[in-house]
Amino acid sequence: MNSDANPNDHRPKIMISDSPPGVSDRVSRLIADALSENPSLVIGLATGGSPVGTYRRLVNLHRTQGLDFSQATTFNLDEYVGLAEDHPQSFRWYMQQNLFEHIEIDPVRTNFLDSMASDIAETASQYEQAITDAGGIDLQLLGIGSNGHIAFNEPSSPVDCRTREVRLSDQTIQSNSRFFDSIDDVPKSAITMGIGTILEARKIVLLATGENKAKAVAAAVNGTISSDCPASLLRTHGDVIFVIDRAAASLL
Ligand code: F6R
Repeated sequence: MNSDANPNDHRPKIMISDSPPGVSDRVSRLIADALSENPSLVIGLATGGSPVGTYRRLVNLHRTQGLDFSQATTFNLDEYVGLAEDHPQSFRWYMQQNLFEHIEIDPVRTNFLDSMASDIAETASQYEQAITDAGGIDLQLLGIGSNGHIAFNEPSSPVDCRTREVRLSDQTIQSNSRFFDSIDDVPKSAITMGIGTILEARKIVLLATGENKAKAVAAAVNGTISSDCPASLLRTHGDVIFVIDRAAASLL
């Protein structure tokens, strides 16, 4: 499938900034504008290195311009299996440190996958139900793995997969070991929203910076739409924006 042959191949809108701070500026503005328009926005959130600057700017907009999160609802994309919520590498902890403790959001409306649950399949289906009950995700923020993963949907994940437990690829474990003391400490599995879950968001914003993302970004934008590069499956959605820096755009 390519753009010429397939009318269902929607090229994402691409915004290129000179550097990572420019990406953070743009993404935070997109979120702030959506939130100002709809204070009850349901936002899907990503973790990892890429959105840290975006969250910093949102905190700043809250402090300096009163950006109001009090009615917003959030759903995080994923969580490592087996890390307690106060583990410094858990995504719940990350969100507390980087955003939630600085913005006056109602904790009841911040949703995380419970990766310590004894029945992970049940937790996953409750999460899907909670998203539906919230009216669906209005704006989903995504990063991209250097292997093209979105959330923790690794290559070969089907387009219609839902929230579930997955095994992390060796490449993801290697790449995320930078956040841990040693590679052996990186959990081997995670719970993640599925690609089908993500594609139901009304609007999707993917951010990527740095040369190590260039190949994945090029495959997502110009390659075949295929589970080999999960981010390419975003082209089946009609409202996706890639906000990337020059380095991440270098192979486009
Ligand atoms: C994190 C997530 C992952 C990351 C991706 C990129 O919640 O869902 O898909 O977005 O691994 O991570 P960074 O930004 O650390 O390069």
